[in-house]
Amino acid sequence: MGGRAQPDRKQLPLVLLRLLCLLPTGLPVRSLDFTRGTDNITVRQGDTAILRCYVEDRSSKVAWLNRSGIIFAGQDKWSLDPRVELEKRTPLEYSLRIQKVDVYDEGSYTCSVQTQHHPRTSQVYLIVQVPPKISNISSDVTVNEGSNVTLVCMANGRPEPVITWRHLTPTGREFEGEEEYLEILGITREQSGKYECKAANEVSSADVKQVRVTVNYPPTITESKSNEAATGRQALLKCEASAVPTPDFEWYRDDTRINSANGLEIKSMGSQSLLMVANVTEEHYGNYTCVAANKLGVTNASLYLYRPGTGRVDNGSVSLAVPLWLLAVSLLCLLSKC
Ligand SMILES: *[C@@H]1O[C@H](CO)[C@@H](O)[C@H](O)[C@H]1NC(C)=O
Ligand SMILES: *[C@@H]1O[C@H](CO)[C@@H](O)[C@H](O)[C@H]1NC(C)=O
Ligand SMILES: *[C@@H]1O[C@H](CO)[C@@H](O)[C@H](O)[C@H]1NC(C)=O
Ligand SMILES: *[C@@H]1O[C@H](CO)[C@@H](O)[C@H](O)[C@H]1NC(C)=O
Ligand SMILES: *[C@@H]1O[C@H](CO)[C@@H](O)[C@H](O)[C@H]1NC(C)=O
Ligand SMILES: *[C@@H]1O[C@H](CO)[C@@H](O)[C@H](O)[C@H]1NC(C)=O
Ligand SMILES: *[C@@H]1O[C@H](CO)[C@@H](O)[C@H](O)[C@H]1NC(C)=O
Ligand SMILES: *[C@@H]1O[C@H](CO)[C@@H](O)[C@H](O)[C@H]1NC(C)=O
Repeated sequence: MGGRAQPDRKQLPLVLLRLLCLLPTGLPVRSLDFTRGTDNITVRQGDTAILRCYVEDRSSKVAWLNRSGIIFAGQDKWSLDPRVELEKRTPLEYSLRIQKVDVYDEGSYTCSVQTQHHPRTSQVYLIVQVPPKISNISSDVTVNEGSNVTLVCMANGRPEPVITWRHLTPTGREFEGEEEYLEILGITREQSGKYECKAANEVSSADVKQVRVTVNYPPTITESKSNEAATGRQALLKCEASAVPTPDFEWYRDDTRINSANGLEIKSMGSQSLLMVANVTEEHYGNYTCVAANKLGVTNASLYLYRPGTGRVDNGSVSLAVPLWLLAVSLLCLLSKC
């Protein structure tokens, strides 16, 4: 603190005594800056605050005080804080400048001016604002359907930020209430996706962060497409399952597992699996089973590869009885040349 100006110790106690005596007595306050006793000055954290005060003549005795003591007495700096200095752009100005304002600077400051027979004080309340900032938010989570999930989002700021949660995908639903915690009881697969936490106050734009919630559920087969194909042609059976995590597929011919070999190829991508027959022969017609499994469960569906004209396409539960009967009739017809 070598360069700091040393206050005149002889004179100050007297000045201060008189200043401090004046403060609570409610003497008429006349300030060029402030018409009321206390005014608010709002400054953002990190900015510079200038608390204005003017004297009427150069011989006035002046001082700046905060709640805990004297900052300046006349030209003498009592505060050890290097961020604090006087601003005197005119001989009669006696303003206080505080650089890089922080939250602990918030509070009331008093400019005390004493001329002969004419003392006055003006008080300023410094409000320090801090933009909202999310300090802690849940990490991405993966849960099983039906679980209870609690997401947490904590934020700092002055004034205290308002926290809101929103389900971004797919519903866009906003959750009411100013909640640090978002509790989802018995989560469903529709409630998976991104959740956005927004912390807002009037100081600056809101701080926003996201959490991804993955909901696991067992497979259900959403599409199983039977097909028909003539011998010598290519055939395709399609099976689709909804599941998280992505299901693994297996194909069975009656009770026998099918592998990609001998002109059969299984292609599985994401939620869909295709069984491809490169060159259909008589042995290929019949009943196939598509099995979809993930760690939460397994399910299957039956599909059929038909001779052309013997079955209906796109319906896994068609009975072969009618087409066989039709076949018999057509055969009879052929034989009897009808
Ligand atoms: C100063 O702010 C407080 C709240 O922070 C408010 O109650 C008061 O009315 C304000 N004073 C002036 C003079 O604006
Ligand atoms: C006002 O008082 C506080 C508490 O003692 C102190 O930390 C702070 O530095 C003072 N403010 C200024 C601008 O000197
Ligand atoms: C964030 O919050 C969680 C849950 O309250 C806590 O376990 C964790 O320690 C916090 N992390 C930080 C960096 O504050
Ligand atoms: C979910 O929370 C409800 C209510 O608090 C409780 O009854 C239920 O047992 C919880 N379920 C699980 C899977 O923890
Ligand atoms: C399909 O198989 C038959 C009998 O094996 C053969 O004659 C025919 O050339 C094959 N067709 C194609 C396109 O490979
Ligand atoms: C097809 O195969 C599945 C599984 O082997 C079986 O449950 C189903 O009854 C069969 N359908 C027909 C019509 O044979
Ligand atoms: C298909 O599911 C049924 C009943 O869930 C089961 O009995 C059958 O063994 C399954 N078929 C295959 C090939 O996994
Ligand atoms: C398949 O046909 C049966 C009746 O034969 C019907 O109940 C079922 O809804 C059909 N399924 C599809 C997917 O069209």
